[in-house]
Amino acid sequence: KKVVLAYSGGLDTSIILKWLMVEYGCEVVTFTADLGQGEELEPARKKAEMMGASAIYIEDLREEFVRDFVMPMFRANAVYEGQYLLGTSIARPLISKRLVEIARAEGADAIAHGATGKGNDQVRFELSAYALEPGIKVVAPWREWDLTSRTRLIEWAEQHQVQVPKDKRGEAPFSVDANLLHTSSEGKVLEDPAQEAPDYVYQRTVNPEDAPDQPEYIEIGFEKGDPVSINGAAMSPAEILAALNEYGRKHGIGRLDLVEGRYVGMKSRGIYETPGGTIWLAAHRGIESLCLDRGAAHLKDELMPKYAELIYNGYWFSPEREMLQALIDKSQEHVRGTARMKLYKGQASCVGRWSEASLYSEAHVTFEEDAGAYDQKDAEGFIKLNALRLRLLAMRNRRGQP
Ligand code: ARG
Ligand code: SIN
Repeated sequence: KKVVLAYSGGLDTSIILKWLMVEYGCEVVTFTADLGQGEELEPARKKAEMMGASAIYIEDLREEFVRDFVMPMFRANAVYEGQYLLGTSIARPLISKRLVEIARAEGADAIAHGATGKGNDQVRFELSAYALEPGIKVVAPWREWDLTSRTRLIEWAEQHQVQVPKDKRGEAPFSVDANLLHTSSEGKVLEDPAQEAPDYVYQRTVNPEDAPDQPEYIEIGFEKGDPVSINGAAMSPAEILAALNEYGRKHGIGRLDLVEGRYVGMKSRGIYETPGGTIWLAAHRGIESLCLDRGAAHLKDELMPKYAELIYNGYWFSPEREMLQALIDKSQEHVRGTARMKLYKGQASCVGRWSEASLYSEAHVTFEEDAGAYDQKDAEGFIKLNALRLRLLAMRNRRGQP
């Protein structure tokens, strides 16, 4: 028996690695992805080796993550419940895809992950895996074992020769998930939604109050709805996001403190930092405002909450997400140009935008003489016909009919 484990190299997944060997008596293959979480991955290799993993996969998936997951998602301006930029949600399908591919290559019949039975991540990992490999088995130790208290978990680890770093012996810190798009923090000091999060929870942005007193301007170039350059320098998808993260970090952009509705039913409170993604979305909206027809733009905005919910709930690999994606991608055909962004104390504002594909016509909109581009008399009939049904309703009300 062989299982492929999504392995971060941290204490929890190290205990899981050992637990799978002890409880299931199976060979464990580890998979660690570099999604831009900003951690050294070589220590994960060392640990996995020491604990007896039968094969170790460590892969840099940063470009694939941004190109094939973040970019399609941001073409939709996807935001969950009006606020959350889906930084964790969008990474899970990619991890599952590689878990399943590695399982095939290794002749393993199962995958395992370290998500708890209370959260969204278990659903995302597993829906993705089943969609790609219908016969795969899934092991989710957090749903099975009785190591439910921190003390029991540490005891088990020490009994089974899993090294427990000194700072992990006591209380667990809050739970963090990070990648190139965001850092999320949940649990512990954050569990009371009435209490403001302490500043040390924030890890990748300066406090906007301490950000530079001078604004900074950058120009982001777009092609087909995707950012492709900053200040005229062409960059790969992951390079763009990394560069935007740096600007966002410096100016304290992209901090969020929110309560969200989990797919499994309960609400949870989270702190999110999405510095580059926040600048990206504001710039994308800026270009869309010039290049998207109103009908296309409004339809896309109506569908966005549904699309965001599909990603949040784990349905990346579903026909309905793919149908919406085709519609969204089609809408981006002419979304190109440059957004000039002003970055200042936690804010990313689009303060200038231009495009060869612009639908903006100064001749039509001007308050000055328009040289016959637009006949104001046309508006009278336009308004009268639109008012007809409103007038009929008003007349009925006058007659005293309910
Ligand atoms: N609540 C976020 C989501 O469902 C983040 C979940 C993972 N975060 C964590 N700190 N463990 O996408
Ligand atoms: C977890 O429960 O493993 C993390 C939080 C979530 O998945 O929502």
